[in-house]
Amino acid sequence: MKVLALNSSLRQDGESRTELMLTHLVKGMRDAGAEVEVVNLREKEINYCMGCFSCDTITPGQCIIQDDMSRELYPKWLASDLCIYATPLFHWTMNAPMKAFIERTWPVMQPFFVKSDNGRWVHPPRHESPKAVVLSVAGFSEDWIFASLSNYANFLWGRNGKLVAEIYRPGAMFMTSLDPEKLADILGATEQAGRELAMENRVLPETLARAQQPVADLETVAKAANMFWQTCIDEGVNPKAFNERIRIPRPHSLEDYLFLMQLAFSAKNAGDAKAIVQFEFTGEVTGDCHIVVDNGKMQTNIGKAAQPNAIFRAPFELWMDIASGKANAIQMFMAGKCSAEGDLPLLMRMSQWFGLSPS
Ligand SMILES: Cc1cc2nc3c(=O)[nH]c(=O)nc-3n(C[C@H](O)[C@H](O)[C@H](O)COP(=O)(O)O)c2cc1C
Repeated sequence: MKVLALNSSLRQDGESRTELMLTHLVKGMRDAGAEVEVVNLREKEINYCMGCFSCDTITPGQCIIQDDMSRELYPKWLASDLCIYATPLFHWTMNAPMKAFIERTWPVMQPFFVKSDNGRWVHPPRHESPKAVVLSVAGFSEDWIFASLSNYANFLWGRNGKLVAEIYRPGAMFMTSLDPEKLADILGATEQAGRELAMENRVLPETLARAQQPVADLETVAKAANMFWQTCIDEGVNPKAFNERIRIPRPHSLEDYLFLMQLAFSAKNAGDAKAIVQFEFTGEVTGDCHIVVDNGKMQTNIGKAAQPNAIFRAPFELWMDIASGKANAIQMFMAGKCSAEGDLPLLMRMSQWFGLSPS
């Protein structure tokens, strides 16, 4: 099976969730023996269709615009058995580079109007075109957000039996940061979808359900997302710079701090650790809270604990600087800006229980 896989995201350097999903889908397809070429549309010169209809009249089947589309991509597309259209969801549909590509496939049709078997009027094809898989990722977390794109895909490719599968990944912006185990399952299922496509020309419903599973409940995603965006705004950084330099959203209350702790807690990393750690904050946010870690589970509470194993005292904003790597914990202890009592080695180990990765 010859496959052309188009990626229309303009984000790169590991930022693009479209690319992440497509990479796994393609891996599965290649594992199952498909011959797949991946094309990043951002690297190609694809001008807009001008609507001149020269491809219908003067040069039938051939676009007169000289660019990468007419020279390279259109012939590749025609020669493929299957095309994967992988696009970020922009304004509830495919993004502009993908739409530009699709518009430039106009020469595949003849301009005449003919009545099809179902009584609808269509343009007759000039050539056989490849079957289609649509892959899309989005910021919002609910399934219905792909309704418009799906409607279009079904209109374009579904009516003539060319649409083989639709794979939609909601909540993609935060899929890499909230739950590493779910992320692994989602990406594993996407690879499995690739194998199924290559071997059976379809994706099983259970595979699709795994690839599209929620990463967290909607309230949790929204809260984490809002803290992330507020931190970006406060620090004057975009998501790329946040991931490189800041990494942890900045809380402004004890509740938000504990919410983040809960989100970042890794049962796997904590193992069989058992501890009660109390935080006593001054400054911007004054108050006490504590965490109770016991056999891979963590509870968080506002207020003091009855019998903490360790107590940590610091101005809230300083502790957030330490947590986000802006300040060095040891230097701050040496300078007397924060203090601790109780099981100090426990405090050193504690950081390993948390692994909030960038968005
Ligand atoms: C201009 C623009 C429009 C967007 N429109 C939507 C939208 O309609 N619905 C949605 O859920 N997310 C929307 N998003 C979020 C993107 O789908 C999300 O950031 C996705 O991860 C981008 O894909 P990429 O990471 O492969 O570039 C939009 C983002 C941008 C920049």
